[in-house]
Amino acid sequence: MPKPVALVTGASGGIGADLARELARDGYDLVLAARGVEGMQKLASELDAQSAVIPADLSKPGAAAQLAKELENRGITIDVLINNAGLGETGPFAESDPSRLSEMLQVNMVALTELTRALLPPMIARKRGGIMLVASTAAFQPGPFMAVYYATKAYVLSLGEALAFELRGTGVTVTTLCPGPTRTNFAHAAGNPNSPLFKRQSMIMSSAEVARIGYRAMKAGRPVVITGFANKLLAMSARYSPHSMVLKIAASLNTPG
Ligand SMILES: NC(=O)c1ccc[n+]([C@@H]2O[C@H](COP(=O)([O-])OP(=O)(O)OC[C@H]3O[C@@H](n4cnc5c(N)ncnc54)[C@H](OP(=O)(O)O)[C@@H]3O)[C@@H](O)[C@H]2O)c1
Repeated sequence: MPKPVALVTGASGGIGADLARELARDGYDLVLAARGVEGMQKLASELDAQSAVIPADLSKPGAAAQLAKELENRGITIDVLINNAGLGETGPFAESDPSRLSEMLQVNMVALTELTRALLPPMIARKRGGIMLVASTAAFQPGPFMAVYYATKAYVLSLGEALAFELRGTGVTVTTLCPGPTRTNFAHAAGNPNSPLFKRQSMIMSSAEVARIGYRAMKAGRPVVITGFANKLLAMSARYSPHSMVLKIAASLNTPG
């Protein structure tokens, strides 16, 4: 029997690389997609699985369709899709770099949506499959000074919950993973490694732990998973606390130190 195949976007490091490790340990072959070919090749060489490395810049319009076409050309059928690639940006919206904002919208929302749309119908036809969307605890409230990032993650959570509902009974599950602060390159790339959000070492989880929790939830077919008790508490309290207070707290957590 050929092994099932999982596609992981943003597999060149961080949470994506650890999700790929979880999948390989569980008997999947892998397709790794991101820009950082070197990181993916290094990961592929360490995995006990067949791995195809596909360079993909998901910030380019049409990148998801191109990736789906490349899979078709190589005759690869995807059983599990992990939409993990993502990036953030910190600072006042009015001063932000417009091209960085477009990049964020493309990677975090457009490519994730288009890749899901492209790979879902064959899963439905086969009556099995799993899709993970990596959102964030940022999805649960607006986030001044990371306004666009938080908004993209609210989109991802909304999409994921709706798709999980639509796909009930089809054999295909959709799980939205909502990590809190996690030790990866994310904070550095987003320009806020010294913000209060990332300064509290006790609140920061390892990417291996986040991947383990996320993968377990996906296997159980859970629609949404928030990593860790403290993050669950924060996400839930953001939903039920006065909005003015939630905005103030989010702003103070994101303000670069
Ligand atoms: N770390 C956190 O605190 C945290 C918290 C909540 C949610 N998340 C989410 O978790 C996901 C993974 O992030 P991470 O923490 O593992 O950060 P990371 O270490 O910075 O990894 C981000 C991944 O996304 C990929 N990516 C970025 N831009 C891309 C592009 N244009 N095309 C293709 N791939 C691209 C990167 O690959 P290349 O640069 O090689 O292309 C990299 O593999 C993201 O969706 C992030 O929003 C992170």
